[in-house]
Amino acid sequence: MSERRLWTGAHLVTFAGDRDWGLVPDGALLTEGEALRWVGPRAALPRALCEGLADEQDLGGALVTPGLIDAHTHLVYGGERSAEFELRLQGASYEEIARAGGGIRSTVAATRQASESALHTLALARAQALMAEGLTTLEIKSGYGLSLDDEAKCLRVARRLGEAGLTVRTTFLGAHAVPPEFDGRQDDYVEAVCQWMPILRDQGLIDAVDAFCERIAFTPAQTRRVFETARGLGLPVKLHAEQLSDQGGAALAAGFGALSCDHLEHLSDDGIRAMADAGTVALLLPGAYYFLRETQLPPIAALRAAGVPIALATDHNPGSAPGLSLLLMLNMACTLFRLTPEEALRGLTVNAARALGLADRGRLVAGQRADFCIWNAAHPRELSYYFGRNPIRGTVMGGRTRA
Ligand code: NIG
Ligand code: FE
Repeated sequence: MSERRLWTGAHLVTFAGDRDWGLVPDGALLTEGEALRWVGPRAALPRALCEGLADEQDLGGALVTPGLIDAHTHLVYGGERSAEFELRLQGASYEEIARAGGGIRSTVAATRQASESALHTLALARAQALMAEGLTTLEIKSGYGLSLDDEAKCLRVARRLGEAGLTVRTTFLGAHAVPPEFDGRQDDYVEAVCQWMPILRDQGLIDAVDAFCERIAFTPAQTRRVFETARGLGLPVKLHAEQLSDQGGAALAAGFGALSCDHLEHLSDDGIRAMADAGTVALLLPGAYYFLRETQLPPIAALRAAGVPIALATDHNPGSAPGLSLLLMLNMACTLFRLTPEEALRGLTVNAARALGLADRGRLVAGQRADFCIWNAAHPRELSYYFGRNPIRGTVMGGRTRA
């Protein structure tokens, strides 16, 4: 039998139901191997479960939440784009920079030049920054290689980060931008992406497929082609949708049963309805909204009214969101998007898990993975209230305290 460990004196945020925090003031968590065996009020803990424990810890009233999940990042890349940031501050738009050959393409050049081990060193440091704030599951997209070899290189780096004490999910984003060697041959590039997909899938490098559907990236028809290929391979899809303009991408993705549609500042009512019908998660990215000085808010109230689950992520990337703080995303989701602190934390736990198609995490209930964070905080709303302050006390990953 796997080892059992007990944590008591925990102020639990379980998210056990569909509403509210699911608070348990004097709670206990019992883990068995990598899973939660029992969660609830200390006083109700069955004594029989407490025999032969490998370890027991009293947390003295500390707050315990599910482990944090970053369900949208572009963590593996070379170079940085601070010069572009300066250009934007002087008035150039993200779109203008992209059209002039900067933007994603400049990161593609730097990523192609970088060795696999150099990319790993850079990405590991970024993952560690996120882990320092309680990250336990991390999604990483490709999309800065844009050739078969360079996409494979980036996806291997992403996979290898899973050795660092976290779960990694990889997403193939070949349809992120058109690389220079395909200039003027956008449809040919989309065909190439579709040909690479089964090869990368067979190498065990893809858990899901994403695309950037936008006037500076790929059309809905090209996005459909990518999604049809993914569907043929049994791979779930997600989409960078309606970030800069309404392309009808969300409805298209929902038609393919997308796990999530991400960004969504320009999402229409039709898109919302389609997402609600398909059970697609709205993955909001306040860091990109903030950093691009966007003024068009995603339609939060309408998403809420339609019952679309809302998740949050950092969108970490060198162009639109170079931040590495999930706690800051909680704060920004409240201040900029007017989410409640409870909606925001659900967005980094329960709904983030759903955006990755992971049913085994995101809540503190028996049977889920034993991934949780211990915080020096009295109430969970404090996690979105402070910014630039990290109240973490410890992270437990698969039942073991992470060093
Ligand atoms: O999620 N929108 C497309 N992709 C990224 C930005 C990539 C970049 O600028 O390098 C995003 O915002
Ligand atoms: Fe993104």
